[in-house]
Amino acid sequence: MEENPIDPELELNKILDDDTFQHVNNPIVGIKPIIKKYLGIPNHADQLGNKFFFTDGEAKVEIVVVTPEIIRVRLAPHGVFLDEFSYAVPKLEQKVTAFTLLENEKEYRVSTNSINCHIRKEDFFISFSDSKDHVTSMDAVPMHWEENVSFGGYYVFCTKTCAPEESFFGLGDKATELNLRGKRFVNWNTDAYSFQWNQDPIYRTIPFYISVNEGIAHGIFFDNTFKSHFDFGAEKKDQTSFWADGGELQYYYIHGPHMMDVVKNYHIITGTHPMPPLWAFGYHQCRWSYYPEAKVRAIANTFRKEQIPCDGIYLDIDYMDGYRCFTWNKKYFPDPKKMISELAADGFKTVVIIDPGIRVDDNYWVFKEGKENRHFCRRSDDYFMEGHVWPGRCQFPDFTNPDVRTWWGGLFKGLVEMGVAGVWNDMNEPAVFGTGTFPDDVRHQYDGHRGSHRKAHNIYGMQMVRATYEGLRTIMKNKRPFTITRAGYSGVQRYSSVWTGDNVATWEHLKLGNIQLQRLSISGIPFCGTDIGGFSGEPDGELFTRWIQMGTFSPFMRAHSAGDTKEREPWSFGEPYTSINRKFIELRYRLIPYLYSTFWEHHRYGFPILRPVVMQEQEQHNNHFRQDEFTYGDKILICPVLEQGQKSRIVYLPAGKWYNFWTLELIDGGKELDVLTPLDTIPIFVKAGSVIPEYPVMQYVGEKEIEEVKLNVYFSDYLANSFFFEDYGETFAYEQDIYSEKKFAVNGTKTSFTIQQSMEGLYTPRYEIYNFNVTGLPFTPSKIIADGKTITDFSVNADKVLEFKYSKNFKKIVLTK
Ligand code: GLC
Repeated sequence: MEENPIDPELELNKILDDDTFQHVNNPIVGIKPIIKKYLGIPNHADQLGNKFFFTDGEAKVEIVVVTPEIIRVRLAPHGVFLDEFSYAVPKLEQKVTAFTLLENEKEYRVSTNSINCHIRKEDFFISFSDSKDHVTSMDAVPMHWEENVSFGGYYVFCTKTCAPEESFFGLGDKATELNLRGKRFVNWNTDAYSFQWNQDPIYRTIPFYISVNEGIAHGIFFDNTFKSHFDFGAEKKDQTSFWADGGELQYYYIHGPHMMDVVKNYHIITGTHPMPPLWAFGYHQCRWSYYPEAKVRAIANTFRKEQIPCDGIYLDIDYMDGYRCFTWNKKYFPDPKKMISELAADGFKTVVIIDPGIRVDDNYWVFKEGKENRHFCRRSDDYFMEGHVWPGRCQFPDFTNPDVRTWWGGLFKGLVEMGVAGVWNDMNEPAVFGTGTFPDDVRHQYDGHRGSHRKAHNIYGMQMVRATYEGLRTIMKNKRPFTITRAGYSGVQRYSSVWTGDNVATWEHLKLGNIQLQRLSISGIPFCGTDIGGFSGEPDGELFTRWIQMGTFSPFMRAHSAGDTKEREPWSFGEPYTSINRKFIELRYRLIPYLYSTFWEHHRYGFPILRPVVMQEQEQHNNHFRQDEFTYGDKILICPVLEQGQKSRIVYLPAGKWYNFWTLELIDGGKELDVLTPLDTIPIFVKAGSVIPEYPVMQYVGEKEIEEVKLNVYFSDYLANSFFFEDYGETFAYEQDIYSEKKFAVNGTKTSFTIQQSMEGLYTPRYEIYNFNVTGLPFTPSKIIADGKTITDFSVNADKVLEFKYSKNFKKIVLTK
């Protein structure tokens, strides 16, 4: 075996690093840390299909070409790689067509048509460049590791350079500014009740970030479930590092050049969200807790009486008998099946909470089954993992065991038979009172790849909601389950929506929620929402209304509050708040077909629902710090009002032409505007050329047959496309192409405007008519010709919007002066 040559500079670095990292990487205080080992000099390259191996004589590096834009890097300190297994990437799709290995004096180079991975001969530095040889990512020191004496394995480190103007985005739900530059983070799923700005870690582990430098974006996905750390130029201005307390140094380099490409490519490896049931896009009302039954019914009745639309109603932990999962408190809910079906008849879907802690009680069937089948987690000495949560002393299923997941999934049969439509998984970081979480020595089956809690902690919640989702999917047959989870790891989007946890009723949290939702969206978690109104504390009417307004444009819209707070429903604050809340919740329902179409684009292509401004114009460095405005899909720009008493606010509009949603005024973007923000509006702008489908307001999804769909068409003097997706909204028939995908193309001049439609898919909606509302026409039309026929019945209303109706099957409509 060849010894690594000694490089004095590296040696110095090692000493510096040992000092700085001592607190994180060496838990044994007082004993000199074991010196980090760095990769030496690569002296050999091998190829096996799309895999390339490089070695310094002892350590091995594997480079896998995954797609033309994605390359995976792995390090094996002693030449032996760990098993190929990942909860985030269940199956590594390898879609590459062409790649080559080149060797010259200076480097080995693995290339696809889009990117190159360079392995420098002098020092084993790994870097990436695009097809124009522009270097996007580069090691600042070789990959390195350090033996973890107490647990075995290695602390593994990767350090890259950080350019002066490089910005960083992603990492899931971090409670901080959108741009992560200059900050350091830890990933260790944590129950973070009333978390604060900059508190870290909180609920989720999404070890994926996007870098934007010199207008070019790339992503790094560090697929390691151990406690992981990221440093974006915090410790050293010119270095970006990521490291973990165990496991393998394994990361994916994901090329852009646009942030959107990076996100799409990230979804290629970790999957997208399945289509949720259509009703899940409605408004959800939650509280800890609505009980007894009379209270639940009273809340539901008030929604209908007040004519405020609502689809989801939640039962928090008090519906259970002594907080025992899968049981009912018969005093509060004597006949749950009857209640749920009567709620359902009135359009409410009941969602129930299920936590992982199972009460230790030999008279409780779930505990007995789990105990008999040894489904609960155990400590290293074989004792059961016990801890206190809501039910008292609990044991916890090992969701990393496939048999346990199947068992768990089956437990939902009774709830589904009662009519429960969705399940809310909480406390699954996992949370334990007093100690925070499980001790490190708890053992997990890890789908046959065994590990301690150090390895399984960050994926525990994800495997719980996976078990829930898969169980529900089997029991509900072809119906789409609805699930929501608090904890998660990359890939959790394949099984569930998420909310941001126990936030607080403050203006600061409204701001933070706005950033967190944008961040989750670009971190691969599209279906996300905050507790509208703030979980703990008391919002006043103004804060609640501003939160409802932002929530109208959150992918997932749910109000929730802690039990010790005052009543918190959309009517709780009286007028003018009730009417404004109603107006916005109605707007949510009107835009459901637009949101649903956007979600389809996510499911199919990996686009996020919320897109920060930097995602529209990443070339402009200024935009790297904008975090209030975002687009909802690609057509509507929203800027929530985030300050108390705000009468107007500055809004940045990306380049292009936009219509003010309220006044219909046409505005040139690429600049900041001062926009009036009276309590009953927030700044909303629609891109010129958009066709936004709108459903009639209903009190719940599916309340009435849709007789016609309104198409809001916004004139543009350039070609613009929009999409409109529809299907049954509750089955998986879309997997067999039973859906309708319509594409609208519009284009206009000073004297004419054309709207074209093309259709795909096997679903036919039952309505026949589109009600066209054309905004911004620069002329008064004298003639409208639809597929060769003249439409004579049209009018122009007071807002100068042209209105007419025509068949939903039209192909081409031409309006002329
Ligand atoms: C946790 C959840 C919260 C829930 C409460 C009671 O704090 O985050 O949403 O209401 O537990 O179940």
